[in-house]
Amino acid sequence: MSVAPILVTGATGKLGRLIVDRLLALGQPVRVFTRRPDAARVLFGETVQVAAGDFDDRKALDAAVHGIGRLLLLSPINARLVTDQIAVVDAAVAANAARIVKISGSDWTIEPPGSSISGAAHAAVERHLNGLAAKTVSLRPNAWMQVSLANTIKQAIANGQVIAANLDAGIGYIDARDIADVAVHQLLADRLRRRTLILTGPDVVSFRQISTLLAAELKRPVAALDKPPQTVPGDGDFEHRAVAQFARLIAAGRAATTTDVVPTLLGRPPRTVAAFILEQVAAMTAVPEYQP
Ligand SMILES: NC(=O)c1ccc[n+]([C@@H]2O[C@H](COP(=O)([O-])OP(=O)(O)OC[C@H]3O[C@@H](n4cnc5c(N)ncnc54)[C@H](OP(=O)(O)O)[C@@H]3O)[C@@H](O)[C@H]2O)c1
Repeated sequence: MSVAPILVTGATGKLGRLIVDRLLALGQPVRVFTRRPDAARVLFGETVQVAAGDFDDRKALDAAVHGIGRLLLLSPINARLVTDQIAVVDAAVAANAARIVKISGSDWTIEPPGSSISGAAHAAVERHLNGLAAKTVSLRPNAWMQVSLANTIKQAIANGQVIAANLDAGIGYIDARDIADVAVHQLLADRLRRRTLILTGPDVVSFRQISTLLAAELKRPVAALDKPPQTVPGDGDFEHRAVAQFARLIAAGRAATTTDVVPTLLGRPPRTVAAFILEQVAAMTAVPEYQP
């Protein structure tokens, strides 16, 4: 008897590819949904099943969910997030998928309601999931090291500066590899215990502390500079407005939280900001080997 594949949406993106790599390494059958089948083949080779299509193509979605056992739901922040994710969920439920693991927004973008447009969109999808008979869990990861912290590191290497609206605002950054580990855990666990899991790294680190860590690693001064908080544009695209809201919430200290969900589920501590900085600085400042 063949095992039903796990469908992964957003598989070719920053987090999705980490999740697919882990599932394949565990020998799980995986199907990825993508608008770019060639890119998926380059990333994952022949072992993965590729379902081509766009979220707004119902026929493509129906083909993608055919025979799946479980779904990893991920889509980018945009004005279509609610419609796209609910379309995937409803197709998966119609195909009798037994379990759905959703990558949601950071908890502080969702709670309290009204915090951000992106949080409101993720909350609408979570409500839809909570009303289903299928087993579902929404993972709410704090800010990812591989996105905002990686940009801060790049800036510090280029300009010798860390710039933030509030240098003393802390963030419980999480490494995307830990999010991927938890997502795989929740896809494969015998049973799900919670509807929502709030994921963070092990500690809260401020921009000022990041500049100190970077100066030590780069062995040169890194200035910590204040800048006025970003205004949230009244118009402009959804993603830009959402990102401006995140910056204001972070400056207000809302991302300064930690939970013990990652160590409890994985039985090991989450990766640290200090380790990430060390790894990134080494990678970004590596001198290419001489090739005659
Ligand atoms: N960055 C953070 O700090 C953070 C924190 C908490 C939560 N999140 C959540 O993480 C998610 C973003 O994850 P990410 O950064 O890994 O995404 P990403 O790198 O931007 O990748 C987006 C993925 O979505 C797929 N996609 C986009 N539009 C599509 C469409 N119309 N039809 C089918 N597939 C489509 C893309 O596939 P193809 O191009 O191959 O089709 C790609 O695989 C968001 O929901 C965000 O709220 C992020």
